[in-house]
Amino acid sequence: MSRIVGGIGISHTPSMGTEFDRGMREGFSPAWQVWFDGTRPVKAWLAAMRPDQIVVIYNDHLNLFEFDAYPTLAIGVAERFAQADEGWGKRPLPDLPGDTAFGWHVTESLIQQEFDLTVCQEMAIDHGIYSWLPYVADAPWPAPILPIAANMIRQPLPSSQRLWKLGRALRTAIEAFPGDQRVVVISTGGMSHQISGARFGIANIDLDRFFLEHLHRDPDRLLRIPQKELMRLGGTEAAELSIWFAMRGALSDRIAQIYTFHTFPQITGCGVAVYEEPNQTSAD
Ligand SMILES: [Fe+2]
Repeated sequence: MSRIVGGIGISHTPSMGTEFDRGMREGFSPAWQVWFDGTRPVKAWLAAMRPDQIVVIYNDHLNLFEFDAYPTLAIGVAERFAQADEGWGKRPLPDLPGDTAFGWHVTESLIQQEFDLTVCQEMAIDHGIYSWLPYVADAPWPAPILPIAANMIRQPLPSSQRLWKLGRALRTAIEAFPGDQRVVVISTGGMSHQISGARFGIANIDLDRFFLEHLHRDPDRLLRIPQKELMRLGGTEAAELSIWFAMRGALSDRIAQIYTFHTFPQITGCGVAVYEEPNQTSAD
């Protein structure tokens, strides 16, 4: 039987990725240095957990799916996932490795649990994963990655409660996978920000910090906030915080909060939270 050893919630933004590349070349700007430094403990924790599989629930930003056919939930099952070119060329990072045995197992289990995901055997991955990944792991990537995409672009969006339940179903699927694999579940969504319309540029650092404060012990309080209220308070793209519930829903209530961090380098609140299941440390 396999098991979830811990989870991470983390922001993503296009600039987080391009600033990583610039930072590695010529040093980080002061604002992005804060984020880079803030992710060092996350990188150390992930390495110590020695995951055999990493599940990432993220959202695409019209770099893979198009409005003509936008799946609410989609899963990638392939031996590798290429990086999407978002218009500025591909960054110097390798494809993501995939494990098709694990991917098909999770797909079948989720469908049996009434989550009818669109299965993608080719899946170009945008900054939803590539922007934060090099902050928390070095290439070659430490484990196969199973990407699950949640629609955060086209209304109607899957609700926070639905994404929480996806996390619960994901836990059931992982625990039924043979082989005693250690699995880390990561959810990624931008914190407060808005990149269109009259409210372009608004953000709400208080909302971000409230979210980080309550996700560990009182996620129900966050789940009660309507998605539209998240968007009103934090900007339309703050809806992506809903994705974090998939990770939290996959974890037990016995988790320890290992780390949280928040900063605001540019346009989007950048935060991260790390949780660990009991008795799952690297020595286990
Ligand atoms: Fe996003």
